[in-house]
Amino acid sequence: MTADSNSMPTRGTTEFWLKSWENGRTGWHEADYNPWLLKIPKNKIQGRVLVPLCGATQDLLWFAQQETVTEVVGVDLSEVAFEKFLEANGFSTAGGASAEKVKICKIKEQPKITFVVGDFFADGWNVNDDGAKKFSGISATIHARSQIKAKKFDLIWDRACIVALMPEDRERYSNLLLNMVGDAGEYYLLTLEYDKQLMDGPPWSIMIEDLERCGGDAWKYERIAEAKVEGKGSLPPRIDGKTIEVLYCANAKKS
Ligand SMILES: C[S@@+](CC[C@H](N)C(=O)[O-])C[C@H]1O[C@@H](n2cnc3c(N)ncnc32)[C@H](O)[C@@H]1O
Repeated sequence: MTADSNSMPTRGTTEFWLKSWENGRTGWHEADYNPWLLKIPKNKIQGRVLVPLCGATQDLLWFAQQETVTEVVGVDLSEVAFEKFLEANGFSTAGGASAEKVKICKIKEQPKITFVVGDFFADGWNVNDDGAKKFSGISATIHARSQIKAKKFDLIWDRACIVALMPEDRERYSNLLLNMVGDAGEYYLLTLEYDKQLMDGPPWSIMIEDLERCGGDAWKYERIAEAKVEGKGSLPPRIDGKTIEVLYCANAKKS
């Protein structure tokens, strides 16, 4: 945190994100699902989908509405984000489970979605279920942490996530995803590329070298599509019109 209590916490820290949600400073949030989802091959959209650092994205709902998808797990630090997602869709929570640092929430109207409120890096949600406490209106369909952990994900969707993480957290993030993706699973990520002299993140500029640095040899990245971002209002003015959005598909390399 910075010394001045009126100012925002250091950009990119967990405090910064929590405060951004509290203050409604969420310029990245899109009212509808992200159109780049349509670039993912249809036959890859199936099974269990992980949406890390999901905010209040409608992408959660878009995945849940695909017949071939069986479960969608979103994870975000902010309870405000979860509430915003519920409110935007007229949904209500169906209870869940909580542990020290995470709350695993089910949604009454959309049982395919599990929303984890907590730090993606916390042990709680993806390690084991010991000590989880059920809370209000618990339903039989609750997905305990052990269940989330036991099964791997068929697809991981990262929009504005790796570009939002502090550079020193990228490698940890990439390794966590590697542990969660199934053998035939794929990791789709939408990154931003701009001249790093123009701005410090978030959002950070992520070039292929940055991806390869944080993922080591573990992932094989394929650049699928790209487009200039201009006038959408989601980027700071300094980089608007000077940024390319790039969609990658990454596969875990078999050792
Ligand atoms: C730029 S927003 C992108 C949100 C979402 N992917 C979207 O497309 O709207 C980044 C999000 O990451 C969340 N976040 C940042 N660090 C996190 C962490 N360590 N664990 C869970 N969520 C985190 C923030 O609360 C914020 O909602």
